[in-house]
Amino acid sequence: MKKIITVDGPAGSGKEKISKYIAKTYNLIHIDSGLLYRKLAYVLEKNKIKAAEKQKIKAFIKNIKKLSINKNSSLRREKIGNYASVIAKYEFVRNYINLQQRLITKTNSKKDGFVIDGRDIGSVVFKKAFIKLYIDVDVKIRAKRRYKQLIDNGEKSIYRQILEDIKLRDQQDKNRNNSPLVIPKGAVIIDNSKVFTNTISQIKYVIERAN
Ligand code: CDP
Repeated sequence: MKKIITVDGPAGSGKEKISKYIAKTYNLIHIDSGLLYRKLAYVLEKNKIKAAEKQKIKAFIKNIKKLSINKNSSLRREKIGNYASVIAKYEFVRNYINLQQRLITKTNSKKDGFVIDGRDIGSVVFKKAFIKLYIDVDVKIRAKRRYKQLIDNGEKSIYRQILEDIKLRDQQDKNRNNSPLVIPKGAVIIDNSKVFTNTISQIKYVIERAN
């Protein structure tokens, strides 16, 4: 069995940057589960299906065996993130995305394992992971970072709106019935509110102690 490290946390907590760092440093493949939700949201939206049209979504995904993980910059748009957060509430969507993740971890590779980030990876999808991390950052810091990221990507944004969006996303992610965002059992909490070198030293300590 290959090594699995899970990285969970709320919107804009820096899971992606952290996971990329872990993947590169410890020779692992990075799977961004949020990107899979975003990809599905993007494809549905392109097909003019609304996030509330559950039955249409159900019928649609029956015909997509494997979701392509090719990235495009539209996936990072705020609108797609909000759409993804709505469909992520549906149990059949979560089962579908979880299956996609398991399919990826079954593919052969020369790497030593996987680092997977999301909301429910350590609590539901890979409960037996080698190491579980939970990334914690105050909501205002997350909103500031997200705002800067969107501006840098050329998307017009208003800070107050981004803060509201993130709060709403937190509420949706934490209060849904299916796989809500929680601190997984056995997870180590990483504080990512300071400089990245500080985050790295916390992570190094956890991973190298476990190895
Ligand atoms: O970039 P951000 O952290 O805002 O979100 P993301 O990780 O790209 O995920 C987009 C949305 O998908 C999130 O707001 C969650 O609602 C949902 N998601 C989820 O429910 N479970 C996951 N494992 C990953 C994402």
